[in-house]
Parts: sequence; C-alpha cells; structure tokens
Amino acid sequence: MKAANRNFYDIVGPNYEGIDGRRTPRMSAFLSEQIRRIAQDLPREAFLDLGCGNGFLSKVALKHFRKGLAVDISLNVLRELEVEGLYKTVAEADFLPLKPAALDMVMAVAVLHHCFSFERMFKEIHRALRSGGVFFSDHDLDSGFYRRHAFLIRLYRRMKNDQLRYSSRFPGITKELFALTEYHENGIDTDAVRKSLCEAGFQDIKIKFHWYGMNLWSDRIFGQRTYEKGQAPLVRIIARK
Ligand SMILES: C[S@@+](CC[C@H](N)C(=O)[O-])C[C@H]1O[C@@H](n2cnc3c(N)ncnc32)[C@H](O)[C@@H]1O
Repeated sequence: MKAANRNFYDIVGPNYEGIDGRRTPRMSAFLSEQIRRIAQDLPREAFLDLGCGNGFLSKVALKHFRKGLAVDISLNVLRELEVEGLYKTVAEADFLPLKPAALDMVMAVAVLHHCFSFERMFKEIHRALRSGGVFFSDHDLDSGFYRRHAFLIRLYRRMKNDQLRYSSRFPGITKELFALTEYHENGIDTDAVRKSLCEAGFQDIKIKFHWYGMNLWSDRIFGQRTYEKGQAPLVRIIARK
C-alpha cells in the first residue's frame, strides 16, 4: 500500500492537483474556517499536515499557526513546495520524525482512505501532539454512505473515470496501481476509526458527515451543513489528546 502510494504520487508529482481539480478557492476558504475554529483555543505554535501532497492544506493552515511541517510519503509531490514558515520532509504517517508533544494540531485531508490501517498512525499522531492538541481529518468517503448508495456511486465513478484520466496523462499509472492507492475506495469504517482513536488515547472524538467540496453542484445543494451517518459522503474527524 505504502509503496503503491509512493509510486503513484512520485509519478504524478506536482501535477496532482491539475488533474484532481477539487482544491478550489472555495475549498480553501472552507478548510481555513474549520482550522480557525479548532485552533482558536490552541497555542497555535505548530501544525503537521500529514499526507500533504503539494501543500494545499499547509498553505491554508499557515494563516492560523506560526509554523508548520508538511509530510508526505512521496518526495516528488513535495518538490515544488516552498512556503515561508513551512518545513517539509518525506515520512510515513505511522512513523513521524518528531519529538513527543511537538505539535498543537495534526491535519490530514483525503489521506485516511490511502492507508491500509490506522492503529499505528493514530498512536504516532497522539504521541506527536501536545496535551489538548487536536487531530483533524476530512474528505474521506464513509463506508456507510457507500453501502447505502453503492449503485449510484459506481455509476458516478464510471462517468467520471478518474483512473482513465490519470492513466492517459501518466502511462505509469496502471489500473492496478490506481486501485492499490485508493485502498479504501469504498469508504472508511468510522466505527473502526473511532475505536482506533480511542485506543490511541484520544478523547472527545467527533465524527461528522457532509457534502462540501465534492463538486460545485453538491456545494450549492447541500452547503456546509453536517448530516447523520449515511446521509452524506464525506467524513470529518476531530479528536483531542
Ligand atoms: C489524495 S492526496 C491528498 C493530498 C493533500 N492532503 C491534499 O488534500 O491536497 C493523498 C496524499 O497522501 C499521501 N500518502 C498516502 N499514504 C501515505 C502514508 N502512509 N504516509 C504519508 N503520506 C501518505 C500521498 O502521497 C498523497 O500525497
């Protein structure tokens, strides 16, 4: 799984967002507001953007923190990321090159569904956070929503065909490689996530579901409201150490 992600993002490199196309100014404003709300009662010294890609989230988060660290398993996605106040390094989510209690906030957008399992990663995140620090994750598909609407989601995916878009631009991206990187393509199990977060020592775990950031139409129709499990596709997690 890790090798597949490293390989995939090394191939796509800094061109990633040019193909994905979901990191719009609206999305940036949405995430900025989420981070502002969470960070307002934190010291706001340092954050970690885990699975940072080419740094979309880091750039947003820097408005709210004095400094940040952007970490990714792929060297190539990090290559062109040069922002003042932002340090960057290659590392794996479950083995962070950080002292204990170094961070106020760890954030991961659209990353969990790329990871084989969460136990070790959540323990590492917990270790790296200061007491009272927050783990924030957003934009992974909920497996409960997928099960409820599997037929429609498969149809939507067939029309959108992300794999073909990537493979036609980057011949190294095969169907198999694409499938391996999207390990939880049918969603993450939020009950298992909650259990792993609890076992890692997190408290006050909030898991919510929303539609914002899928596309222009869903943003207009559903807005930024949160919904019950099964009624919205995207999972947002906020957990405190
Ligand atoms: C869908 S991209 C999201 C990038 C970024 N968070 C954003 O929203 O713009 C997923 C990122 O997670 C990284 N990744 C996947 N597995 C990882 C792991 N085990 N450790 C660190 N990064 C990982 C990938 O290399 C990729 O850059």
